[in-house]
Amino acid sequence: MSNTEEKRVQNVNLPPDKVMHKLVSLAKRRGFVFPSSEIYGGLSSCFDYGPLGSEMKKNIKDIWWNAMTRKHSNIVGIDASIMMNPAVWEASGHVSSFNDPMIDDRTTKRRYRADHLIENHIEKLRRDGKTEQADKVQTVYEAAAGSPDPNRALYELIAGEAIKAPDTGSGDWTEVRQFNLMFQCNMGAVADTSGIVYLRPETAQGIFVNFHNVRESSRMKVPFGIAQIGKAFRNEIVKGNFIFRMVEFEQMEMQYFVKPGTQIESFEAWREERFNWYIAELGLTPEKLHWYKHDKLAHYADLAYDIKFEFPFGIEEIEGIHSRTDFDLSQHQQYSGKNMEYIDQTTGERYIPYVVETSSGCDRLFLALLSDAYSEDVVDGEPRVMLKLSPKVAPVKAAVLPLVKKGEMGETAERFRNDLSTAFMVQYDDAASIGKRYRRQDEIGTPFCFTVDHQTIEDQTVTVRYRDSAVQERIDMARAKEFLATKLV
Ligand code: GAP
Repeated sequence: MSNTEEKRVQNVNLPPDKVMHKLVSLAKRRGFVFPSSEIYGGLSSCFDYGPLGSEMKKNIKDIWWNAMTRKHSNIVGIDASIMMNPAVWEASGHVSSFNDPMIDDRTTKRRYRADHLIENHIEKLRRDGKTEQADKVQTVYEAAAGSPDPNRALYELIAGEAIKAPDTGSGDWTEVRQFNLMFQCNMGAVADTSGIVYLRPETAQGIFVNFHNVRESSRMKVPFGIAQIGKAFRNEIVKGNFIFRMVEFEQMEMQYFVKPGTQIESFEAWREERFNWYIAELGLTPEKLHWYKHDKLAHYADLAYDIKFEFPFGIEEIEGIHSRTDFDLSQHQQYSGKNMEYIDQTTGERYIPYVVETSSGCDRLFLALLSDAYSEDVVDGEPRVMLKLSPKVAPVKAAVLPLVKKGEMGETAERFRNDLSTAFMVQYDDAASIGKRYRRQDEIGTPFCFTVDHQTIEDQTVTVRYRDSAVQERIDMARAKEFLATKLV
């Protein structure tokens, strides 16, 4: 690109707190994400993906699916049922311990996570330089989990430190109670406890219970993986931040079954592969991705890391990578009475495999991609909003824009659009000035615009305009499909 072309585009620096507001509005206006059942006032933390959003989400899932299954000859996919035998959730520990400690404020009638209130308090003490007090609170907090009455211990800490609600400043607290995050529903005609089923809170258990089915039917040998994309449901106490924390969301999970003793090596390999995936395949800004190592491990894990992303509202988790030992398969062996061992056909060894899990949230990733891509700049003196999405992620790959909508030019453009549409998601737009049409496409992240003009009729060439630089060049119409294909690998 020449210097003159570069000067056409000037970036505008946006403060992060403004970005979320603008994103939510753009998402609705352009059909990425709508509030669920909006005409009835919506439903807290539930959202619908619109025409562009569902297209973009499908792209994300396809990219993940290809990276996790097609690129690995020893990983296969499944699509398990959302509702499962309730014994699954007894075995997995979700019935007894998939809880959050909650506390209510009597005055404001608002509900909070007790652990979040304490953790935020400790962070604030540290920010204010009150290190000694922060350490003291931290020690009591860590001891609370092992105390005879953990709920009481959390309550006493909140009351003793006079912790207030961050949003209202009130502190008229009830006792702390444990709140199970699983949604219950009744199966069958009788509404008694015998019909209780749960909406799955993670997709992983559908993989564990199918371990032998998949291994036998696909003739898999350890190490091998099972991948799945699907909905999960959690009755989250703390909601908010748009689609970041929802009660119904989609996970992209892979369970990798390995020989005990080899799990850490495998964990490290997956850790590297998953982190690089976000950069190489999705184009996320590398500096916005961070590692977080869990010091406090879940009872079933021997190592756990999160991949976190710098959202406009803070650095938050998008994927968890967990070394889950043989906990899940052992539990299912115990509860189902079915043998979950693997027999190595070469050595005759028998063991319950260990599991390395990669668990990514599709909706959080969607939000990460949107917030990373949102930008405003000025092109040739005209302000524009642009989603700088990677072409692979962008919902629309190209737009076909005839300079004149009627006659031979319009007909040529329509034929061109129809041909491109057989292979790519393409939009056709013949309304308003060409400048306005470019802006409309920039705002939804369309990486390329093909303009059909007078010269097209004479020599079958079109201009291709690049979204980010606004630079244009001419190419043969016949080459347009090949052009797009090369940009999408
Ligand atoms: N099977 C392991 C598991 O479920 P997790 O860390 O609880 O692990 C994995 O969840 C990912 O699922 C998270 O990194 C996040 O991206 C996504 N996720 C979890 N809860 C979510 C929620 N309420 N809304 C949106 N995404 C969520």
